[in-house]
Amino acid sequence: MSESALLEVRDLYKSFSLSRKQRAQRHLSSDRLVAVNGLSLSLYEGEIYGLLGPNGAGKTTTLRMIATLLSPERGEILYRGNSIGQNELRKKIGFLTSELKLDDFFTPSYTFDYFSALYGIDNAERDRRKGNIFARFGVDRFADTQIKNLSTGMKQKVSLAISIAHNPEIIVYDEPTNGLDIMASRDVENFLLDLKKEGKAIVISTHIFSLVEKLCDTVGIILDGSMRLEGKMNEVCANASLEQVFFDLVEGQE
Ligand SMILES: Nc1ncnc2c1ncn2[C@@H]1O[C@H](COP(=O)(O)OP(=O)(O)OP(=O)(O)O)[C@@H](O)[C@H]1O
Ligand SMILES: [Mg+2]
Repeated sequence: MSESALLEVRDLYKSFSLSRKQRAQRHLSSDRLVAVNGLSLSLYEGEIYGLLGPNGAGKTTTLRMIATLLSPERGEILYRGNSIGQNELRKKIGFLTSELKLDDFFTPSYTFDYFSALYGIDNAERDRRKGNIFARFGVDRFADTQIKNLSTGMKQKVSLAISIAHNPEIIVYDEPTNGLDIMASRDVENFLLDLKKEGKAIVISTHIFSLVEKLCDTVGIILDGSMRLEGKMNEVCANASLEQVFFDLVEGQE
């Protein structure tokens, strides 16, 4: 194990039970589907890790286990080399998924307050953080507008702001630019680079290769729930583009 990993994920394994109908739809004989199969990765302070893989490869399942939203069947997650409880780990993690649903009837400001209260942050600290974070993303312009009246990009900015309400050390973002236009995507990129500068350990999953090439220090490619290729960006792409490396890997397995 590396001494300096902030978070180390070891041999994660997760399977889902399938109904008879799901089994038939997928033409599977087993009643369980292995989504993540012995997957390991390490996150370091001030680094962005990019997780790539085809649809259904196991990226979201992996990230949900890291974010403590799903319990691994096997494997462990170590924080600074130690196994800590899920509740403790959760406080250190900021999670964002494109499926995250904000309550339409709340305002961004109220939502931020609500999540801050869940994390036990006192009101003065909450207001200080809210002021800073909202100003940074331009959320202050619509802080008191009901979420149902916001655009997708605006909502995503609200979600980003809320994901760091508790000042997490580890950032876990599942397809953070999904559905965003080029301007909003750039805002997210800059947001991630800011977090990196602050020394956060970041893992993102995405299908946007240019995002990984631009932002990530390390890249991991998952196929069928297992890590098939992992390395520093410059090493992985020493002789070919990331896209080419990816295609070679996927086609090699078929
Ligand atoms: N709750 C569940 N019940 C049954 N199967 C599931 C469940 N969640 C995920 N799966 C299956 O596990 C596998 C991995 O899914 P996962 O969502 O982790 O993939 P992904 O890499 O995030 O894909 P995508 O790129 O489409 O987001 C898929 O075959 C998926 O259908
Ligand atoms: Mg996914």
